[in-house]
Amino acid sequence: MSAVLERTSRFADSAPAIDSTAFSRLRGFHTGAREMGDTVCAVHGRLPVWLQGRLLLNGPAVWELPEGAYRHWFDGLAMWHRLQFAGGHVLYRSRLADSQSARLARAAGRPVMGEFATADTEPWLSRLTHFFRPRASDNPSVAMSRIGERWVACTQTPHLISFEPDSLATIGELAHDDDLDLALMAAHGMTDSRGDYWNIGIEFGRRCTYRLFRIAASGTRRESIAAIQVPRAGYLHAFARSASHVLFVEAAWRAQPLAFLFTRRAYAANFRWEPGSASAIHAISLADGSVQRWETPPVMSFHPVQAFEDGRELVLDLCDYPDAGVIDDLALDRLRAGVRHRAAPRLTRYRLRPGCADAQIERLGTGFELPQIHPSRPEQGAARWAWGAGYDAGERNHFLDRTVRIDLHTGDRLEWQRPGAIQLEPLFVPRPGASDEDDGVLLVPTLADGDASTVIAVLDPRRMECLATIQAPQVVPFGFHGVFQPR
Ligand SMILES: [Fe+2]
Repeated sequence: MSAVLERTSRFADSAPAIDSTAFSRLRGFHTGAREMGDTVCAVHGRLPVWLQGRLLLNGPAVWELPEGAYRHWFDGLAMWHRLQFAGGHVLYRSRLADSQSARLARAAGRPVMGEFATADTEPWLSRLTHFFRPRASDNPSVAMSRIGERWVACTQTPHLISFEPDSLATIGELAHDDDLDLALMAAHGMTDSRGDYWNIGIEFGRRCTYRLFRIAASGTRRESIAAIQVPRAGYLHAFARSASHVLFVEAAWRAQPLAFLFTRRAYAANFRWEPGSASAIHAISLADGSVQRWETPPVMSFHPVQAFEDGRELVLDLCDYPDAGVIDDLALDRLRAGVRHRAAPRLTRYRLRPGCADAQIERLGTGFELPQIHPSRPEQGAARWAWGAGYDAGERNHFLDRTVRIDLHTGDRLEWQRPGAIQLEPLFVPRPGASDEDDGVLLVPTLADGDASTVIAVLDPRRMECLATIQAPQVVPFGFHGVFQPR
């Protein structure tokens, strides 16, 4: 067991007991997961014979340290989890990521580097040595991506941490032989059919610059593809790619570059909700790098569902929010207390017409986040089906409590629920050789009141019925995203 976890375990022993009845599903927001070697999982029901490979999950896992604690769900020190599927059996393993942020926290016994809602503690004298280049967390807790045969994970800064997907050992930060000076970066990169990695970074200056870049499958250099200047960049978590364009939303939760450069405040404290400046959707042509822009009412967003061409129009399906209140909803004390959410994610279709200044908006639903579509879409045509984690927006439930299939043509929903459970991102795994876009399974991490540990549900994505469950040997702290690596 690592030193961080040993100290954390001692701390957890002296912490007040978690409510083990009404809100025991909320154990996923608590520190306590251990590093474990290969451990057999109990499987109930029948796993599809073709489901062979690795499910990788990552996310925050350590929020409490002996002499201090993190404040927000997004802040926790990262852990990787691997479920190996072979011959109807499943083996679980977990390991903490060895980032600079984790090393400094381990040495000090408290948070040291600034995280999403935790301020940086670097002394001013030390900070003077790199005044115009403030340090940013490399805690790889949010998303995982592939660059050729290499696997990387990151948070919302330009640090890509390479790791080994079987042992879960941290390899180290990917060094870039280029001169890009990115301050921020979307957490979700995208890997194309050649294995090249794409992402969008943000540079600070008199104006902010969004920079689309690519890393070749076998390289480390970030090749600049296009740049868009704006007065102040919005928060950017992910982007979408159609057959011919890269699209992203300029959120109205806007970065304050001077605060990033000259204060030690937490990441989120350096953004400000600016509804007066509206929002915009930018589309970058992959053919010639040209840029188009459409205005929208002010929005906040983490995840696009898809982007595609519909005749001469571009279409962006997006999970969005009318303001940035969701950031406060996800503070750890509120989540642990089971406080109802104030913000409800909407599923919105933006139609982007040539010659129009404004996007045309259709609402397809509410209470829908962490979206998934078949990985071949929209490259092979627009997706009709999307799956996501949801809740009843009218009830404003404590947290995501159901798995939803949405018909993107009609907005019709089909849902699957475990009673009393939190249900996270439903990862879609296509059946090898299948042609239909909903032929495969969904892998859904869940934790219900009374569960001894995390239960991964294997769902039929057409009928939204449970085919099998896999019981992990411990509570896997709630993370955000997973990937499946077929054997
Ligand atoms: Fe995400």
